[in-house]
Amino acid sequence: MKIGIYGGSFNPPHLGHLAAARTAVKALGLDLLQVVPAGVPPHKALPEHTPDKGHRKAMAEIFADQIGPFAQCWDVELERPGRSFTVDTLQAAAVRWPEAELYLLMGADMFLSFQSWYQPEEVARRARIVTFGRTGQRQELEQLQAHKELLDKAYGIDCTILTIPDGVDVSSTQLRQALPKGEGRQWLPKAVYGYLVREGLYGLHADLRHLDDETLRCVSYSMVRAKRLPHIRGTEQEAVRLAQRWGADVEEMRRAAILHDCTKYESVERHLAICAQYGIELDEMERSGEKLLHAKSGAALAKYVFGESQRVFEAILYHTTGRGDMTLEEKLLYLADYIEPCRDFPEVEEMRRLAYTDLDRAVLMGVELSIQEMVERNRVVHPNTLDAEQSLRRGA
Ligand SMILES: [Fe+2]
Ligand SMILES: [Fe+2]
Repeated sequence: MKIGIYGGSFNPPHLGHLAAARTAVKALGLDLLQVVPAGVPPHKALPEHTPDKGHRKAMAEIFADQIGPFAQCWDVELERPGRSFTVDTLQAAAVRWPEAELYLLMGADMFLSFQSWYQPEEVARRARIVTFGRTGQRQELEQLQAHKELLDKAYGIDCTILTIPDGVDVSSTQLRQALPKGEGRQWLPKAVYGYLVREGLYGLHADLRHLDDETLRCVSYSMVRAKRLPHIRGTEQEAVRLAQRWGADVEEMRRAAILHDCTKYESVERHLAICAQYGIELDEMERSGEKLLHAKSGAALAKYVFGESQRVFEAILYHTTGRGDMTLEEKLLYLADYIEPCRDFPEVEEMRRLAYTDLDRAVLMGVELSIQEMVERNRVVHPNTLDAEQSLRRGA
C-alpha cells in the first residue's frame, strides 16, 4: 500500500494545496493520503493570529475531505507535545501502517530547505521525498532540479519532482493578508472558505444573518461531507426550476435548498442540543431518528443563525416527512430533494414529469413511495407523512 504524508501549516489550506494533493495521488498511485497539519513547525513559528489547534484540525479535515474519499486528516503532530519533527511523524506512520510504502509530500519552500531539517537522512530513509512547484514555471523547476541534484550528491537521496498541470499560484501568506480585506476567497475550496466565515477566522467578520447566496453555499458546504455536495447542488437547481414553474419566491427556495441538509452529519446529541437551544419541539419518533432530526436542527439553524424566513424554516422542517396541508414551499422543497438530477430510482422519471404538470400528484407519489419503503423495512411511518398522504389524496 502506498501512503502519502502531506505535512504543512495549512494556514489556511487553499486551492494550490488541493491541486498538489490531487496531482500527487494520481502521479504516484497513492492508496491513501494523510494530511498532517503541523503542530509547532520546527523551522518558523506560526504567524500571529493563527487559528488555534481545534480550528486548524477542522480546516485540515474539511480540506482532506475535498481531496477525495482516500484522503483524511491525521492530527498526530497537533497532538504531539513539542516541536513537530517530520522524522517522528514518519516513525508514527511506520507503526500505524507497518507494510506501507511512504511518500512525503512537500511544497517547494520546504524542499529547498530540506538539508537543514532535523535528521534529513533519516527522513529520506523512511519515506520517498516528493516535491512540487507552485507556479509550474521553468525557473522554479530548474531550481527544484538543482536542489534535487544537490541532495543526491550530499546524501544520496533520490527525490521526485512533480509538475502540477493546473497549478494555482497562491500561498497561505498571501491569503492571510488578503482575507481580512475581503479578498482571496477564489483561492480557497468553497467549504474551507465557508468554515472561515462561520468561525470568523483570518479577520473575516461576516454577519451570518445576511449572507449572499454564494457565501451561504460555502457555509453550508463547510458543514457537510464533500460527497453530499452534488445532491445539495442538484436540490438547489431543482428547487429554483420548481419555484419558477409554480410561482414561488425563487430566492427563498434557493436558500432553503442550499441549507436543507446542512446538519446532516451532526451527532444525535448535537441535533438535540440545537433543537433545545432554539425551542424546536420534537416528538418521541423524531428524538430517536437521525434522519428525522436533521430536518429539525437544519430548520432551526436556517431561521435563527442564518436569518431565513418562516417559509424557508417550514420548508426545511418538513422536507423529510411532509405534513398535512403542506404549503407551496414545503411541497417544492420536498419534491426538489426527491427528484434532483442525482436521484435515480425506477419511478423518478414519472415523478419528474408530474412535478412540472401536477404538483400535488407528484408530492403524493413521493409520500406514497416513502410510506411503501418504510413498511417494507418494517419501520414506523411518521404521523406527519400519513397526514400528508391523507390531505393530498383528499385534494387529488
Ligand atoms: Fe434531508
Ligand atoms: Fe436532501
